[in-house]
Amino acid sequence: MFSFFKSQSKVIDLSFLSVDMHSHLLPALDDGASSLNDSISLIKELHTLGYKKLICTPHVLSGIYDNTTDKIKNAFTLLNNELQRQNIPVEIAAAAEYMVDFDFELMVDKKLPLLTFGKKYVLIEMSYVGASPNIEKVIFNLRVAGYVPVIAHPERYNYYHKNFKYYHELKERGCLLQLNLLSLMGYYGGYVKKIAEQLLHKQMIDFIGTDLHHQQHLMAIKKFVATTHFAALMRNTSFLNNTL
Ligand SMILES: [Fe+2]
Repeated sequence: MFSFFKSQSKVIDLSFLSVDMHSHLLPALDDGASSLNDSISLIKELHTLGYKKLICTPHVLSGIYDNTTDKIKNAFTLLNNELQRQNIPVEIAAAAEYMVDFDFELMVDKKLPLLTFGKKYVLIEMSYVGASPNIEKVIFNLRVAGYVPVIAHPERYNYYHKNFKYYHELKERGCLLQLNLLSLMGYYGGYVKKIAEQLLHKQMIDFIGTDLHHQQHLMAIKKFVATTHFAALMRNTSFLNNTL
């Protein structure tokens, strides 16, 4: 567990996190990087920002992004080979961002192997329109199977904003929480920003992720990270990123 250096007044990069564990950098699998060249240019810039390791988490969403484990592993191999060929000193790993939908429930029920990172962490997300109907059952089944569910960007689920105690409940049920860096700068709107700050101040956030899809995200992150506001937000915080 890393503590941000308390007396530092300004963050110049993201090397204090060292590892990003939520990104859409594998080529042509989802609404993230569209090609191998696109992946490489995003990765080079993330490296410049201070990341040493990037865990790639393409969407797995039935009927929209039907990414199988094999498909993800193939895209990973392609990208990893190209990084090595170009001598780009960034480690990458492959996991997934699983939408908690009917097919994911089935995968968990059937005990099919899931793509994980760190200590059997599984990144899961829900629709922005409404919570997955069986979310608590899925969390329970994941825990029974030995996984640790990591809730992707909980601050972005508007339906929990007026029920803040549910965030505590998710943690009590054994979930870890992953905040999107961009939520803190208001990229997804004022309400999301407010909840993001609350979660951060209450020290409920376990991971910070870029959830990087494209250049616009990267430009916004670069701009935000250079501010004293970001430095102030990160003061006295600690995350699990650099344990990965
Ligand atoms: Fe994502």
